Amino acid sequence: MTATDPTGWYERLGGAPFFAALVGGFYDRVAEDDILRPLYPEEDLEPAERRLRMFLEQYWGGPKTYSEERGHPRLRMRHAPFHIDLAARDRWLELMSASLADCDDTLEPEDRDELWRYLVSAADAMVNVNPYIDQ
Ligand code: HEM
Repeated sequence: MTATDPTGWYERLGGAPFFAALVGGFYDRVAEDDILRPLYPEEDLEPAERRLRMFLEQYWGGPKTYSEERGHPRLRMRHAPFHIDLAARDRWLELMSASLADCDDTLEPEDRDELWRYLVSAADAMVNVNPYIDQ
């Protein structure tokens, strides 16, 4: 626990190396993915990887580099240009879950569960094409 990480979450999850491994493993999978890869406008996935890593670090109490560079996250708005349906959400979570499984050895099970619950609810919130809601 530090002044910039008052809840201690960032450190408890493993700080920078943990987030680099989680997001790195996720984007390695996105690069090969038939549903997600076509959604990414840039040829080079590295800038997108860096943005997600910075965002998650900030959310969990780490450095505030994301907001210094990008301003307020407004994630739903930033995802609005992309067609995110239930299949894209499911795939996003599937790839994130596979990456998390690769780097969760050092996590307490309850910390991993907390992180996972957050990722599921954040992914639900990003869906912007839903046949059960949209006309
Ligand atoms: C539900 C499935 C999701 C899909 C298909 C998706 C797809 C995308 C795409 C195509 C981009 C643009 C790439 C870029 O320029 O950065 C993006 C950006 C981003 N996504 Fe997602 N995303 C999803 C869920 C999430 C979730 C759950 C989070 C956070 C926990 C997240 C955080 C971000 C961030 C931080 C950015 C960069 C925003 C910026 O600063 O411009 N995404 N996403």
